[in-house]
Amino acid sequence: MAETNYDIVIIGGGPGGYNAAIRAGQLGLRAACVEMRVTLGGTCLNVGCMPSKALLHASDLFAQASGEFATLGIDVAPKLNLPQMMKQKSESVGALTKGIEFLFKKNKVDWIRGAGKITGPGKVEVTAEDGAVTTLSARNIVIATGSEPASLPGVAVDQTRIVDSTGALSLPEVPGHLVVIGAGIIGLELGSVWRRLGAKVTVVEFLDRITPGMDSELAKAFQRALTKQGMVFKLGAKVTGATASKKGVALTCEPVAGGGAETLDADYVLLAIGRRPFTDNLGLETVGVETDKRGFIPTDHFRTSADGVWAIGDVILGPMLAHKAEEDAVACVELIAGKYAHVDYNLVPNVVYTAPEVAWVGKTEEQLKAEGRAYKAGKFPFTANSRAKINHETEGFVKVLADAVTDEVLGVHMMGPQVSEMIGEYCVAMAFRAASEDIARTCHPHPTRSEALRQAAMGVEGWTMQA
Ligand code: FAD
Ligand code: NAI
Repeated sequence: MAETNYDIVIIGGGPGGYNAAIRAGQLGLRAACVEMRVTLGGTCLNVGCMPSKALLHASDLFAQASGEFATLGIDVAPKLNLPQMMKQKSESVGALTKGIEFLFKKNKVDWIRGAGKITGPGKVEVTAEDGAVTTLSARNIVIATGSEPASLPGVAVDQTRIVDSTGALSLPEVPGHLVVIGAGIIGLELGSVWRRLGAKVTVVEFLDRITPGMDSELAKAFQRALTKQGMVFKLGAKVTGATASKKGVALTCEPVAGGGAETLDADYVLLAIGRRPFTDNLGLETVGVETDKRGFIPTDHFRTSADGVWAIGDVILGPMLAHKAEEDAVACVELIAGKYAHVDYNLVPNVVYTAPEVAWVGKTEEQLKAEGRAYKAGKFPFTANSRAKINHETEGFVKVLADAVTDEVLGVHMMGPQVSEMIGEYCVAMAFRAASEDIARTCHPHPTRSEALRQAAMGVEGWTMQA
């Protein structure tokens, strides 16, 4: 049995793990990354961010070709080639995961293939697919094992008729009727993919609103936009069971507030009610790494309750997002290397990659009210933005929330065309603690959608100009 010594051994090769490994390599630390999948990249590259965005992009173009193109004077009759759509998705994912392998080589990171288990202080045992065991020694162990879909009693995921997000990325056909359980980000993104390709989509949500955590004005506008596209919402509804047969699924639900139960007949059901931290068979108990009631590993600047063991990404508290895992990774490794580092979770942006897209950063109006903080709001609709108008993409708005006294930007919430590419401007501004007036007095190119960012900031002091 070979024993190998490292400065840092990272368990998990997702955005948390691979970024930690690469940063460690850049800082001259001898690093190994243990990953049990056959490819690097974790949930995000293999079965999350990237394949979902590949399908969102392709299905958006299909929907545009089926409708909006005609408005622009382009008459086409698109025909769906689902196997090709899936193939291009897999090819893109393959190229991306190979890219991480290349970066590992470039930064002298060893990829140790297999399942990692902590067996004692500074010891990680790796069991390869063929059963071979290797023991690694490290001064620092970083847990980056990510998360997995949460389950729901009475709804057994079989990845055939009742699927989680992984199954929904590879359905063999366009469902006649797809029932989505959970009006969160996964349900609405993947629900949109199949809706655009022709499925009837019904979303069953426990709460009386969609996308909890999103500013409620934004969430209402978002729900209206999706409803206009034909998505059907059953809010305040509790799923009580789902029975799969060869042909479909009978799903029973009832109003949370009480009332009669009903049965929905679906071809497929997507269960998307959140994700839970993944720490199965990790040996946390051997070194005394504590977890909380929900299974997350509590950390203090990424330090766990055990000396020399750190944790980052989805497995710790905070938004379960790839770019947050990446921030954690860099900060954690820099702390290990003796540098100063921190992550401001208030400045982690959120994006929903539907059409229109939704993006936000900082505090919602509800949060500011709950904190008793006085704020001013400026809002600008895309109907008044010239670029959006000429492109026939006028749905949505930008809302800027600024401190009533200092004018510091506290939160920005937007829905509209490609707002995913625009939110970064406000992330930078907020990182530099900009006032809304700083944005309002910064020249933006014309005609662009980004002018809406400036106009909304101008709106904070009531001098919006474009119409
Ligand atoms: P993961 O990416 O989950 O990686 C953990 C890795 O650890 C896995 O590869 C796993 O195999 C490995 N592992 C676990 N245990 C062991 C062990 N004992 N030994 C060896 N290896 C182990 N986020 C965004 O920011 N933008 C998006 O657009 C987005 N889209 C998403 C779409 C979907 C459908 C899903 C499911 C998620 C999406 N996310 C998105 C969330 C994002 O994927 C996660 O936040 C991110 O992957 C978390 O990174 P991580 O490194 O913490 O964990
Ligand atoms: P989510 O937390 O975003 O939404 C889950 C939804 O399910 C909530 O609205 C919740 O109220 C509802 N719910 C919970 N229990 C329910 C029940 N029993 N019946 C009906 N509804 C129920 O979780 P989701 O969509 O699974 O996504 C998980 C995470 O993955 C996200 O929070 C996000 O961090 C990440 N993600 C990010 C993406 C992005 O950045 N674009 C894309 C996809 C996922």
